[in-house]
Amino acid sequence: MQTLQKRAVKTFAASAALTLGLVGCASTAEVEAPATDDGAPAASETLSGSVEVFSWWTGGGEEAGLNALIEIFNAEYPDIEFINGAVAGGAGTNARAVLATRLEASDPPDSFQGHAGAELMDYITAGQLEDLSFLYDEQGWVSVMPDTLLPLITVDGAIYSVPVNIHRSNVMWANPSVLADNNIEMPATWDDFFVAAEILDAAGIIPLALGEQWTQLHLFETVLLGELGTSAYNGLWDGSTDWAGADVTAAVETFARVLEYTNSDAASLAWQDASQLVINGDAAFNIMGDWAEGFFRVDNSLVEQEGYTWAASPGTEGTFQFLSDSFTLPKDAANRDQAIAWLTVAGSAVGQDAFNVQKGSIPARSDADRAIYPPYLQSAMDDWASNEVAGSLTHGVTASNAWKADIDTALGLFLGTKDVAAFQAAMVTAAG
Ligand code: GAL
Repeated sequence: MQTLQKRAVKTFAASAALTLGLVGCASTAEVEAPATDDGAPAASETLSGSVEVFSWWTGGGEEAGLNALIEIFNAEYPDIEFINGAVAGGAGTNARAVLATRLEASDPPDSFQGHAGAELMDYITAGQLEDLSFLYDEQGWVSVMPDTLLPLITVDGAIYSVPVNIHRSNVMWANPSVLADNNIEMPATWDDFFVAAEILDAAGIIPLALGEQWTQLHLFETVLLGELGTSAYNGLWDGSTDWAGADVTAAVETFARVLEYTNSDAASLAWQDASQLVINGDAAFNIMGDWAEGFFRVDNSLVEQEGYTWAASPGTEGTFQFLSDSFTLPKDAANRDQAIAWLTVAGSAVGQDAFNVQKGSIPARSDADRAIYPPYLQSAMDDWASNEVAGSLTHGVTASNAWKADIDTALGLFLGTKDVAAFQAAMVTAAG
């Protein structure tokens, strides 16, 4: 059963990757007028009761965006009690386990966060989600959601979630003062990084701040992308790139070398702790999705180019490696109408603008109010519209939960053994 499911998801991943390849440079759809004059959802004065919304957005860099969305929801639906069912833990590592147990017990939250792409397909294949096409029709969303995203949430013409954002995963963040003091520039390639890392190491500075295992998987996917190139990286997920190839071996070797320049306590640090090392100047660089931008700017009041700077992760200039947070309507949600109210706010232009400025992501909708976004996010909007695209493994775009778990298990072993051949062999098996 599991094998069948895995195969079904892989088939999807293959067609999604193909779509990514085709539409990469024209990623936004035509902008049409939103459902209401100001893009806000039409408020219902009659709805009351409660709605439980499940995510993993707690703490620095995570909850400010959610809170902004909740504020709009409360204003639109003052009689619905918002129950924040967030489970702490970066990348949803803990939340997804809790969610699986609840779905298994037919006790779903009224709406839950799921990444567009293969991760969402797991829920769809398992028959756990309602088709939201009626809401897309009602709200006119098809014309304002990117062509890149829609295939990742659609099966047989049915659309299964409401994307609130697009995050970029291939970003290298840095402390500008540390770079200036050590006469170092943002590395364009991993070879450039190794030169800089030697200088930093000699100066007693951690070259690359790193956190717990999912952040190491995140680092790995960016090294794979940077070393293989976009088309070969995308091919890993649709079967057109051989996991056993020499280029993958070389990328894993590069990854092993990168790990030599990271902090030894990585396993015990949350992603925010790793970002904090950069803020404090204890480390020069960190690779993290652009929720880190929210952490720098919103939670730590830092100013771009003064407190933090950034570039595409080494070897990936011109490519936007992405993921998208989306919200769902689980079958048998106890408060279905209220969940639809939540989804209506999550998909609205005002909701997305309020959320994304705080979150450090760009709106999924293509009709955002660009002027309210800070410089980094404006540049991300430009890159999303013009770059090649690649999906994130760690954040659910390219591989099913089962496939990702297999790679993650192999990574866990590799972190101890540093056995490149064994890691690669396990990834070949995982893809088989
Ligand atoms: C991702 C999620 C982001 C951010 C990050 C860190 O999976 O899509 O919104 O929350 O995890 O927790």
